Amino acid sequence: MQDILSMQGKVALVTGAGQNVGREIARFMAAHGAEGIVVNDYVLERAQAVADEINAEGGKAIALQADVSSHASVMAMYAKAFAHYGRVDVLVNNAGNAGANPDEAVRKPFYETSPEVWKSWIGVNFDGVMNCTAGALPGMIERKGGKIVTIISDASRFGDAGLEVYAGAKAGAAGFMRSVARGMGRHHINANCVVIAAMGTPMIEERMAADPERAKRILEKYIIRRLGKPSDVAAMVLFLSSGASDYITGQVYPVNGGFTFAL
Ligand SMILES: NC(=O)c1ccc[n+]([C@@H]2O[C@H](COP(=O)([O-])OP(=O)(O)OC[C@H]3O[C@@H](n4cnc5c(N)ncnc54)[C@H](O)[C@@H]3O)[C@@H](O)[C@H]2O)c1
Repeated sequence: MQDILSMQGKVALVTGAGQNVGREIARFMAAHGAEGIVVNDYVLERAQAVADEINAEGGKAIALQADVSSHASVMAMYAKAFAHYGRVDVLVNNAGNAGANPDEAVRKPFYETSPEVWKSWIGVNFDGVMNCTAGALPGMIERKGGKIVTIISDASRFGDAGLEVYAGAKAGAAGFMRSVARGMGRHHINANCVVIAAMGTPMIEERMAADPERAKRILEKYIIRRLGKPSDVAAMVLFLSSGASDYITGQVYPVNGGFTFAL
């Protein structure tokens, strides 16, 4: 049987793919036969390491440095991507930054941080989505097809004290994607979001292991009693990037271990 999640013949650009969630998304795309992957990160060494890993595993990837919050930087990245692959069929807006200490106890409320700091959070989490989508759409319209997937956070739906600006920027990205979906459907371009809650990054897992009581309190918020793994998210992103999701657009899909119901 044919792979219904096949990425054959598709070129995918994944932003912030130098580690964690983005890295796994890029690896999943490659494993399902993508013709080419653009591994973006603003830290070139990280992106290069992931591209090298994919190429060593038999995939095809290049690393391109760009700061997604800068329109000029993103357009320069697209120019290189187009020069190499000729097109981008799938865009995954993964680059994001909560810009705050993950430890809720020491987070500062937004009004104690400066407008410059707010702008930097909005820059990566909202402007970044606009910049990368703007670079992808003209080619997708010309080729009459494309997929755009944006990673947002449950902070955007339920709020998170100390992450006000991040939550607002992620909610803005969801509204933006929904509107892109409306405008682009007739060009066979799908735009969806994947919303995730806390991921079990090595740092978080380490802290939880050191404080079992706190770990228990955190895990009680998840019906499936564990935090997310990059592969959990990558599987949904792969589905929304493949032909299997051609009839799905303008949606927000939670991959959060049941966090929504446990609240
Ligand atoms: N980790 C979580 O618990 C969590 C929870 C909810 C949502 N998210 C979202 O999921 C996505 C991935 O999260 P993650 O945990 O893998 O993040 P991460 O911080 O581990 O990795 C993000 C990568 O993006 C890169 N990056 C940051 N700013 C960039 C910019 N301006 N331009 C280009 N690259 C940039 C970083 O260098 C890094 O390699 C993000 O959008 C994040 O907001 C994460």
